[in-house]
Amino acid sequence: MDLWVRRVEAERYTSSDWLEQEREQIFSRAWIAAGPEWQLERPGDYFTFQELGESILVLRDDDGEVRAFHNVCRHRGSRLLTGCGRVDGIRCPYHGWAYRLDGSLESITKGDGFEKTLEHRRFGLREVKSTRWMGYVWVTLDDKAPPLRQTLGGIAEELEPYALHEMRPVQTFEKVYPFNWKAMLENAMDFYHVPFVHNGTINPQVSEPPDLTSYGDHTRQRLDIAAGYSWRTRLDRRCTRGGPYTPRQIGALHKYLLFPNFLINVLPYHLTVMQVFPVTAKSCRLRYAFCRRRGARGIELLRANATWAASRYILWEDIKVLESFQSGVNTGRIPIQRLHTEEAAASHFHGVINRWMND
Ligand code: FES
Ligand SMILES: [Fe+2]
Repeated sequence: MDLWVRRVEAERYTSSDWLEQEREQIFSRAWIAAGPEWQLERPGDYFTFQELGESILVLRDDDGEVRAFHNVCRHRGSRLLTGCGRVDGIRCPYHGWAYRLDGSLESITKGDGFEKTLEHRRFGLREVKSTRWMGYVWVTLDDKAPPLRQTLGGIAEELEPYALHEMRPVQTFEKVYPFNWKAMLENAMDFYHVPFVHNGTINPQVSEPPDLTSYGDHTRQRLDIAAGYSWRTRLDRRCTRGGPYTPRQIGALHKYLLFPNFLINVLPYHLTVMQVFPVTAKSCRLRYAFCRRRGARGIELLRANATWAASRYILWEDIKVLESFQSGVNTGRIPIQRLHTEEAAASHFHGVINRWMND
Protein backbone atom coordinates (compact mmCIF):
# COMPACT_ATOMS: atom_id res chain seq x y z
CA MET A 1 0.00 0.00 0.00
CA ASP A 2 1.30 3.45 -0.93
CA LEU A 3 2.14 5.32 2.24
CA TRP A 4 2.36 8.66 0.43
CA VAL A 5 -1.11 9.45 -0.84
CA ARG A 6 -1.64 12.51 -3.03
CA ARG A 7 -5.45 12.66 -2.92
CA VAL A 8 -7.64 12.80 0.15
CA GLU A 9 -11.43 12.45 0.29
CA ALA A 10 -13.17 15.35 2.03
CA GLU A 11 -15.43 12.93 3.90
CA ARG A 12 -12.47 12.05 6.12
CA TYR A 13 -13.05 15.43 7.73
CA THR A 14 -16.83 15.39 7.89
CA SER A 15 -18.29 11.90 8.12
CA SER A 16 -19.25 10.39 11.47
CA ASP A 17 -19.05 6.90 9.95
CA TRP A 18 -15.45 7.57 9.01
CA LEU A 19 -14.74 8.77 12.55
CA GLU A 20 -16.37 5.65 13.99
CA GLN A 21 -13.97 3.56 11.89
CA GLU A 22 -11.03 5.63 13.08
CA ARG A 23 -12.01 5.03 16.70
CA GLU A 24 -12.28 1.31 16.13
CA GLN A 25 -9.32 0.74 13.86
CA ILE A 26 -6.87 3.34 15.13
CA PHE A 27 -7.61 4.80 18.56
CA SER A 28 -8.60 1.54 20.20
CA ARG A 29 -5.38 -0.16 19.05
CA ALA A 30 -2.66 2.49 19.10
CA TRP A 31 -0.53 3.77 21.96
CA ILE A 32 -1.98 7.04 23.25
CA ALA A 33 -0.39 9.42 25.75
CA ALA A 34 -2.79 9.58 28.71
CA GLY A 35 -1.00 12.37 30.57
CA PRO A 36 2.29 13.67 31.92
CA GLU A 37 4.17 11.74 34.56
CA TRP A 38 5.00 14.91 36.53
CA GLN A 39 1.43 14.72 37.81
CA LEU A 40 2.29 11.47 39.58
CA GLU A 41 5.11 12.44 41.86
CA ARG A 42 4.16 10.46 44.97
CA PRO A 43 2.25 7.24 45.76
CA GLY A 44 -1.48 7.90 45.56
CA ASP A 45 -1.14 10.72 42.98
CA TYR A 46 -3.57 10.13 40.15
CA PHE A 47 -5.12 11.68 37.08
CA THR A 48 -8.03 10.58 34.95
CA PHE A 49 -7.96 10.47 31.19
CA GLN A 50 -11.31 11.05 29.54
CA GLU A 51 -11.23 10.89 25.78
CA LEU A 52 -12.63 8.78 22.97
CA GLY A 53 -15.56 7.67 25.12
CA GLU A 54 -13.21 6.04 27.64
CA SER A 55 -12.31 6.91 31.19
CA ILE A 56 -8.94 5.69 32.41
CA LEU A 57 -7.47 6.18 35.83
CA VAL A 58 -3.69 6.53 36.02
CA LEU A 59 -1.94 6.48 39.38
CA ARG A 60 1.26 5.77 41.25
CA ASP A 61 0.82 2.86 43.62
CA ASP A 62 2.46 2.26 47.00
CA ASP A 63 5.44 0.55 45.36
CA GLY A 64 6.06 3.55 43.13
CA GLU A 65 4.76 1.78 40.02
CA VAL A 66 2.60 3.70 37.57
CA ARG A 67 -0.58 1.82 36.75
CA ALA A 68 -3.60 2.46 34.57
CA PHE A 69 -7.10 1.09 35.17
CA HIS A 70 -10.48 1.45 33.57
CA ASN A 71 -12.07 4.07 35.78
CA VAL A 72 -15.18 1.98 36.47
CA CYS A 73 -16.32 0.21 39.59
CA ARG A 74 -16.61 -3.57 39.46
CA HIS A 75 -19.99 -3.43 41.18
CA ARG A 76 -22.15 -1.60 38.66
CA GLY A 77 -19.70 0.41 36.67
CA SER A 78 -19.82 3.83 38.28
CA ARG A 79 -16.92 6.19 37.59
CA LEU A 80 -14.54 6.07 40.54
CA LEU A 81 -12.41 9.22 40.41
CA THR A 82 -12.50 12.45 38.47
CA GLY A 83 -9.88 15.09 37.65
CA CYS A 84 -6.57 14.63 39.42
CA GLY A 85 -5.27 14.62 42.99
CA ARG A 86 -3.96 12.30 45.68
CA VAL A 87 -5.75 9.40 47.41
CA ASP A 88 -4.84 6.64 49.90
CA GLY A 89 -7.17 4.20 48.25
CA ILE A 90 -10.13 4.34 45.91
CA ARG A 91 -13.67 4.29 47.19
CA CYS A 92 -16.58 4.12 44.78
CA PRO A 93 -18.84 7.12 45.33
CA TYR A 94 -21.98 5.07 44.63
CA HIS A 95 -22.11 2.16 47.14
CA GLY A 96 -18.69 2.42 48.70
CA TRP A 97 -16.73 -0.57 47.38
CA ALA A 98 -13.06 0.09 48.20
CA TYR A 99 -9.96 -0.66 46.14
CA ARG A 100 -6.26 -0.45 46.95
CA LEU A 101 -3.83 1.54 44.82
CA ASP A 102 -2.69 -1.65 43.09
CA GLY A 103 -6.28 -2.10 41.90
CA SER A 104 -7.14 -5.02 44.18
CA LEU A 105 -10.54 -5.00 45.86
CA GLU A 106 -10.26 -4.21 49.54
CA SER A 107 -13.84 -4.32 50.74
CA ILE A 108 -17.40 -4.79 49.60
CA THR A 109 -20.08 -2.85 51.44
CA LYS A 110 -22.43 -5.31 53.23
CA GLY A 111 -20.76 -8.12 51.33
CA ASP A 112 -23.17 -10.81 52.51
CA GLY A 113 -26.06 -9.26 50.59
CA PHE A 114 -25.17 -10.70 47.18
CA GLU A 115 -26.70 -13.84 45.75
CA LYS A 116 -23.47 -15.60 46.61
CA THR A 117 -20.25 -14.47 48.23
CA LEU A 118 -18.17 -12.48 45.75
CA GLU A 119 -14.53 -13.51 45.75
CA HIS A 120 -12.44 -10.40 46.29
CA ARG A 121 -9.61 -11.55 44.09
CA ARG A 122 -11.93 -11.72 41.08
CA PHE A 123 -13.22 -8.17 41.43
CA GLY A 124 -10.12 -5.99 41.25
CA LEU A 125 -10.05 -3.04 38.85
CA ARG A 126 -9.46 -3.88 35.22
CA GLU A 127 -5.94 -2.88 34.30
CA VAL A 128 -5.09 -1.08 31.06
CA LYS A 129 -1.77 -1.80 29.39
CA SER A 130 0.53 1.15 30.05
CA THR A 131 4.13 2.28 29.86
CA ARG A 132 6.18 5.42 30.55
CA TRP A 133 8.20 7.29 28.01
CA MET A 134 9.50 10.85 27.54
CA GLY A 135 7.75 12.05 30.67
CA TYR A 136 4.32 10.75 29.64
CA VAL A 137 2.23 7.76 30.62
CA TRP A 138 1.09 5.92 27.50
CA VAL A 139 -1.83 3.52 27.34
CA THR A 140 -3.29 1.17 24.80
CA LEU A 141 -6.64 -0.58 24.84
CA ASP A 142 -5.19 -3.40 22.77
CA ASP A 143 -3.67 -6.05 25.04
CA LYS A 144 -1.83 -7.46 22.06
CA ALA A 145 -0.23 -4.17 21.00
CA PRO A 146 3.57 -4.43 20.62
CA PRO A 147 5.65 -2.55 23.22
CA LEU A 148 5.60 1.20 22.54
CA ARG A 149 9.36 1.50 22.02
CA GLN A 150 9.26 -1.19 19.39
CA THR A 151 6.80 0.91 17.37
CA LEU A 152 8.91 4.09 17.46
CA GLY A 153 11.50 3.09 14.88
CA GLY A 154 14.48 4.76 16.58
CA ILE A 155 12.73 7.96 17.69
CA ALA A 156 13.20 7.08 21.36
CA GLU A 157 16.99 6.92 20.93
CA GLU A 158 17.00 10.13 18.94
CA LEU A 159 15.08 11.99 21.64
CA GLU A 160 17.23 10.67 24.46
CA PRO A 161 19.61 13.71 24.64
CA TYR A 162 16.68 16.08 25.19
CA ALA A 163 15.82 14.27 28.48
CA LEU A 164 12.21 15.27 27.94
CA HIS A 165 11.13 13.90 31.32
CA GLU A 166 12.85 17.00 32.78
CA MET A 167 10.48 19.35 30.97
CA ARG A 168 7.86 21.09 33.07
CA PRO A 169 4.78 22.98 31.88
CA VAL A 170 4.64 26.73 31.71
CA GLN A 171 1.16 26.62 30.27
CA THR A 172 -1.36 23.85 29.67
CA PHE A 173 -4.88 24.05 28.34
CA GLU A 174 -7.59 21.93 26.78
CA LYS A 175 -9.95 23.40 24.25
CA VAL A 176 -12.50 22.20 21.72
CA TYR A 177 -12.20 23.59 18.19
CA PRO A 178 -14.58 23.34 15.24
CA PHE A 179 -12.39 21.28 12.93
CA ASN A 180 -11.44 17.65 12.41
CA TRP A 181 -8.63 16.28 14.61
CA LYS A 182 -6.46 15.36 11.60
CA ALA A 183 -6.60 18.87 10.16
CA MET A 184 -4.84 20.28 13.19
CA LEU A 185 -2.02 17.72 13.14
CA GLU A 186 -1.47 18.02 9.40
CA ASN A 187 -1.40 21.77 9.63
CA ALA A 188 1.33 21.63 12.25
CA MET A 189 3.55 19.75 9.77
CA ASP A 190 2.49 21.65 6.64
CA PHE A 191 5.03 23.96 5.03
CA TYR A 192 2.87 24.94 2.04
CA HIS A 193 0.76 27.38 4.10
CA VAL A 194 3.64 29.15 5.84
CA PRO A 195 4.09 32.14 3.47
CA PHE A 196 0.35 32.88 3.63
CA VAL A 197 -0.69 32.14 7.18
CA HIS A 198 2.56 33.03 8.93
CA ASN A 199 3.86 35.74 6.66
CA GLY A 200 4.79 38.01 9.54
CA THR A 201 6.00 35.31 11.92
CA ILE A 202 7.67 32.08 10.75
CA ASN A 203 8.03 32.93 7.07
CA PRO A 204 10.86 35.51 7.33
CA GLN A 205 12.81 33.12 9.57
CA VAL A 206 12.97 30.14 7.23
CA SER A 207 14.51 29.92 3.82
CA GLU A 208 14.58 26.20 3.13
CA PRO A 209 11.61 23.83 3.30
CA PRO A 210 12.02 21.42 6.21
CA ASP A 211 13.29 17.92 5.62
CA LEU A 212 10.89 15.13 6.36
CA THR A 213 11.77 11.61 7.49
CA SER A 214 9.41 8.78 8.25
CA TYR A 215 9.92 6.28 11.04
CA GLY A 216 7.32 3.65 10.29
CA ASP A 217 4.01 5.28 11.16
CA HIS A 218 5.62 8.42 12.53
CA THR A 219 7.32 11.41 10.94
CA ARG A 220 9.98 13.91 11.84
CA GLN A 221 10.47 17.31 10.33
CA ARG A 222 13.48 19.55 10.90
CA LEU A 223 13.17 23.25 10.36
CA ASP A 224 16.25 25.49 10.40
CA ILE A 225 15.12 28.69 12.01
CA ALA A 226 17.00 31.91 11.44
CA ALA A 227 20.09 29.93 10.48
CA GLY A 228 21.63 33.10 9.06
CA TYR A 229 21.65 34.98 12.34
CA SER A 230 24.89 34.31 14.16
CA TRP A 231 23.59 35.89 17.40
CA ARG A 232 20.98 33.22 17.50
CA THR A 233 23.47 30.40 17.13
CA ARG A 234 25.53 31.90 19.94
CA LEU A 235 22.51 32.11 22.22
CA ASP A 236 21.34 28.62 21.38
CA ARG A 237 24.71 27.19 22.33
CA ARG A 238 24.12 28.52 25.83
CA CYS A 239 20.75 26.78 26.14
CA THR A 240 21.83 23.20 25.82
CA ARG A 241 21.42 21.48 29.14
CA GLY A 242 20.82 17.78 28.57
CA GLY A 243 22.62 16.33 25.56
CA PRO A 244 24.98 15.50 24.03
CA TYR A 245 23.12 17.02 21.10
CA THR A 246 23.94 16.90 17.41
CA PRO A 247 24.52 20.35 15.84
CA ARG A 248 21.17 20.02 14.04
CA GLN A 249 19.41 19.28 17.31
CA ILE A 250 20.73 22.58 18.67
CA GLY A 251 20.01 24.68 15.61
CA ALA A 252 16.85 23.24 14.11
CA LEU A 253 13.36 22.95 15.47
CA HIS A 254 12.50 19.25 15.45
CA LYS A 255 8.86 18.28 15.08
CA TYR A 256 7.67 14.74 15.54
CA LEU A 257 4.20 13.51 14.69
CA LEU A 258 3.79 10.31 16.66
CA PHE A 259 0.92 8.46 15.11
CA PRO A 260 -1.92 8.85 15.65
CA ASN A 261 -2.29 12.10 17.58
CA PHE A 262 0.76 13.23 19.54
CA LEU A 263 2.79 16.07 18.11
CA ILE A 264 5.85 17.63 19.69
CA ASN A 265 8.10 20.55 18.84
CA VAL A 266 11.48 20.22 20.51
CA LEU A 267 14.56 22.28 21.07
CA PRO A 268 17.01 21.66 23.91
CA TYR A 269 15.28 24.35 25.99
CA HIS A 270 11.66 23.86 25.05
CA LEU A 271 9.00 21.30 24.36
CA THR A 272 5.53 21.92 23.00
CA VAL A 273 3.07 19.03 23.13
CA MET A 274 -0.12 19.02 21.11
CA GLN A 275 -2.44 16.10 21.47
CA VAL A 276 -5.55 16.22 19.36
CA PHE A 277 -8.56 14.02 20.04
CA PRO A 278 -11.68 13.72 17.94
CA VAL A 279 -14.85 14.98 19.61
CA THR A 280 -17.11 14.75 16.56
CA ALA A 281 -16.08 14.38 12.92
CA LYS A 282 -16.09 18.17 12.68
CA SER A 283 -14.57 19.06 16.03
CA CYS A 284 -11.60 18.13 18.15
CA ARG A 285 -10.09 18.75 21.54
CA LEU A 286 -6.56 20.09 21.72
CA ARG A 287 -4.54 19.27 24.83
CA TYR A 288 -1.71 21.70 24.74
CA ALA A 289 1.35 21.94 26.94
CA PHE A 290 4.19 24.37 26.57
CA CYS A 291 7.16 23.26 28.69
CA ARG A 292 10.67 24.35 29.55
CA ARG A 293 13.39 22.43 31.32
CA ARG A 294 13.18 22.20 35.09
CA GLY A 295 15.39 24.82 36.70
CA ALA A 296 15.74 27.02 33.57
CA ARG A 297 17.45 30.31 34.38
CA GLY A 298 19.06 33.28 32.66
CA ILE A 299 19.30 33.08 28.88
CA GLU A 300 17.71 29.66 28.78
CA LEU A 301 14.67 30.99 30.62
CA LEU A 302 14.43 34.00 28.30
CA ARG A 303 14.75 31.83 25.18
CA ALA A 304 12.06 29.49 26.43
CA ASN A 305 9.71 32.35 27.28
CA ALA A 306 10.27 34.07 23.94
CA THR A 307 9.53 30.80 22.14
CA TRP A 308 6.39 30.39 24.21
CA ALA A 309 5.06 33.84 23.30
CA ALA A 310 5.84 33.27 19.61
CA SER A 311 4.31 29.82 19.51
CA ARG A 312 1.05 31.03 21.08
CA TYR A 313 0.71 33.66 18.39
CA ILE A 314 1.51 31.16 15.64
CA LEU A 315 -1.03 28.74 17.07
CA TRP A 316 -3.65 31.46 16.91
CA GLU A 317 -2.80 32.09 13.24
CA ASP A 318 -3.24 28.38 12.53
CA ILE A 319 -6.52 28.06 14.41
CA LYS A 320 -8.08 30.89 12.44
CA VAL A 321 -7.21 29.27 9.13
CA LEU A 322 -8.25 25.80 10.30
CA GLU A 323 -11.71 27.09 11.17
CA SER A 324 -12.13 28.47 7.70
CA PHE A 325 -10.70 25.28 6.14
CA GLN A 326 -13.25 23.11 7.93
CA SER A 327 -16.19 25.35 7.21
CA GLY A 328 -15.35 25.20 3.51
CA VAL A 329 -14.85 21.43 3.56
CA ASN A 330 -18.21 21.02 5.31
CA THR A 331 -19.98 22.32 2.20
CA GLY A 332 -18.97 19.13 0.38
CA ARG A 333 -18.17 21.11 -2.79
CA ILE A 334 -14.61 19.77 -3.01
CA PRO A 335 -14.95 16.02 -2.55
CA ILE A 336 -11.29 15.25 -3.35
CA GLN A 337 -8.38 17.30 -2.03
CA ARG A 338 -4.97 17.17 -3.73
CA LEU A 339 -1.77 17.35 -1.72
CA HIS A 340 1.35 19.33 -2.67
CA THR A 341 4.89 18.04 -2.02
CA GLU A 342 5.20 20.60 0.80
CA GLU A 343 2.23 18.82 2.37
CA ALA A 344 4.19 15.58 2.41
CA ALA A 345 3.59 14.96 6.11
CA ALA A 346 -0.15 14.91 5.39
CA SER A 347 0.45 12.50 2.50
CA HIS A 348 2.24 10.14 4.82
CA PHE A 349 -0.30 10.59 7.60
CA HIS A 350 -3.21 9.61 5.35
CA GLY A 351 -1.22 6.70 3.96
CA VAL A 352 -0.69 5.38 7.48
CA ILE A 353 -4.37 5.97 8.28
CA ASN A 354 -5.30 3.90 5.23
CA ARG A 355 -3.12 1.06 6.45
CA TRP A 356 -4.65 1.01 9.93
CA MET A 357 -8.16 1.35 8.55
CA ASN A 358 -7.70 -1.65 6.27
CA ASP A 359 -5.80 -3.79 8.71
S1 FES B 1 -21.20 1.05 41.52
FE1 FES B 1 -19.46 1.14 42.76
S2 FES B 1 -20.07 0.40 44.64
FE2 FES B 1 -21.83 0.30 43.44
FE1 LIG C 1 0.89 26.90 10.69
